[in-house]
This record gives sequence, structure tokens and C-alpha cells, in this order.
Amino acid sequence: MAEVRSIGVVGGGQMGSGIAQLAAVHGVDVWLHDTDAEALTRATKSISTSIQRFVSKGQLSQEVATGALQRLRCTSNLEELCSADVIIEAIVESEDAKKKLFSELDKLAKGSAILASNTSSISITRLAFATSRPCQVIGMHFMNPPPIMKLVEIVRGADTSEETFNLTKALAERFGKTVICSQDYSGFIINRVLMPMINEAFFTLYTGVATKKDIDTGMKLGTNHPMGPLELADFIGLDVCLSIMKVLHAGLGDSKYVPCPLLQQYVDAGRLGRKRGIGVYNYRKVTGATNL
Ligand code: NAI
Repeated sequence: MAEVRSIGVVGGGQMGSGIAQLAAVHGVDVWLHDTDAEALTRATKSISTSIQRFVSKGQLSQEVATGALQRLRCTSNLEELCSADVIIEAIVESEDAKKKLFSELDKLAKGSAILASNTSSISITRLAFATSRPCQVIGMHFMNPPPIMKLVEIVRGADTSEETFNLTKALAERFGKTVICSQDYSGFIINRVLMPMINEAFFTLYTGVATKKDIDTGMKLGTNHPMGPLELADFIGLDVCLSIMKVLHAGLGDSKYVPCPLLQQYVDAGRLGRKRGIGVYNYRKVTGATNL
């Protein structure tokens, strides 16, 4: 494959919709698939709003914006992705769900297609094993939100070929991203370092050391982080954070990765963060983070 012309994105949540937008803006034809029709409606709206915001800030011409929206198509039929050069998976952070999807994608994608996962922590090698093309499976971990964040973490599975790595790296660079490369161990680089800090912030709250506001203010002003760890957890999604901690604990076997019971409790209560209007903070009544 000389150049990627079309991609399929599976999962139209916050990451999948952002990846689809990024690709369309950079001249790639995109099919965005989700099993949930409402997710596709939300994705279409958020992509169009986000693209218009880039235009009004003068960061994108109206011509590029219009072209991007024309290149982007949504579908609830996975088979529409069969002609894509690269398929990027961005569904829920569950190994079973991702393996099932990779097995289906393997059957319907063209033989030359690369199957990439945006997983935050799950083994690329095990996802690859669910397919008949492990050398064409790779981790392509975008940061949130994909149209803005400058980094892509590329993860090589045990059998990922050099050609797959080079094509994926070139695609990320075409999207204007800086690439870092990780071996395939739980959490890779970013979440191996970030998630234990977020989990520790939950323990700090859970054990009554400080209020949520003081924990976040402390980390913002005291360590120069743009967002506090609890705010960031709400932004990422508490369900995603919990899943990543479980993967770190299972994969690395150290008790320091045990998820905080408070994080588990918020997820059990459906308090998943910004995407549900409530997480550590309540976003429903006023704009921005407020104390509950
Ligand atoms: P999300 O919950 O916003 O979206 C997931 C979407 O996948 C939903 O719309 C759901 O309907 C859809 N879906 C679930 N199963 C499906 C299937 N079998 N086929 C098609 N669609 C399906 O989740 P989010 O935050 O976008 O995360 C997606 C992936 O990206 C996860 O693997 C996560 O770990 C990873 N990620 C998340 C980041 C974040 O900050 N939230 C950052 C980087 C990676």
C-alpha cells in the first residue's frame, strides 16, 4: 500500500468521532461505524460543531471544512468498511468485545488492510491473535481529543510487521502528530504512568486526605498540570479509567494497581464523567466543573 486513501473507524464515541474528524480534515475518506444509531447522530453533530469552531478560529478554511464533511460517512452496517485501507477500532475498553470485533473485521476487511486499535491498555498481541493477519495488527493510541492533542502512541504487537509500523507511523504524521513507540505491555507508556496517578487521586479523596477541589487545584498549580487528575478522569471517562486500572492490575500483577473502591463505586452508579453529565463533578446544571 503506497498511501492510505480511506479509513474505517469503529466506535463513534468521543475518541472514534475525533479520529474520524481528524482523518477527514486531512483528506482521507472515512466511514464511521457504531452499533448505536444515537451515538452516530451525536458524533455527526459534535464533528460538525468542532469543525466549524476550527473555521471560526481561523485554523481551518471553509473549503477544507466542507470537503471534510463530504468525505465523512456514518453507518450502522460494519460491512461498509470492507474497502478501507486502515480500520481503526475505538469501541469500549473490553478485551472480549475488541477480540470479537477484530475477528469480524479480519473476515470482512480487504487482505491488505491494517487493523489498528485505539485501546488505552489492552494487549495488541492478543487482539492480533483473534485475526488471521497478526502482522497487520497494531496499536494506534490517539490522545483525547484527537483533533487537538499532538501525540499518537504506536504499539507494536509481537508479530506486527515493519511495513505495518511504517504505514501507521506515516499516517499519524500525515495527521500532524508526533509519534512515540511502545512495546506491548499493559498500559503502554501513557497509561502506565498516568492512570496510577489518577487512581491515587481517587484514593486521596476516598481516604479523606483532601477535597476534590484541593486535589485538583494542588496538582494544577503545584505541578503545572493543565487539568487536575479528577477533572481529567471525568474528561477521559471513569469507566475507561476503571477498565485501564483493571488491565494494569491483571497484566502487571502488582497490588499498587488495584482500582480505588471510590472509582469503582462511581462507575457502578453510572457516574461516568463528562459524557454522562456527572462523574466526580456535576456538569448538568452549570457549565464547567462544580462541587456536587
Ligand atoms: P465511548 O464510550 O465514548 O465510545 C465507545 C463507542 O463504542 C460507543 O459509542 C459505543 O456505542 C461503541 N461500541 C461499543 N461496542 C461496539 C461494537 N462492538 N461495534 C461498534 N461500536 C461499538 O468511549 P471512548 O472514550 O471513545 O473510548 C473508546 C476507546 O478509546 C477505548 O478503547 C478507550 O480505552 C480508548 N481511549 C479513550 C480515551 C479517552 O480519553 N476517553 C483516550 C484514548 C483512548
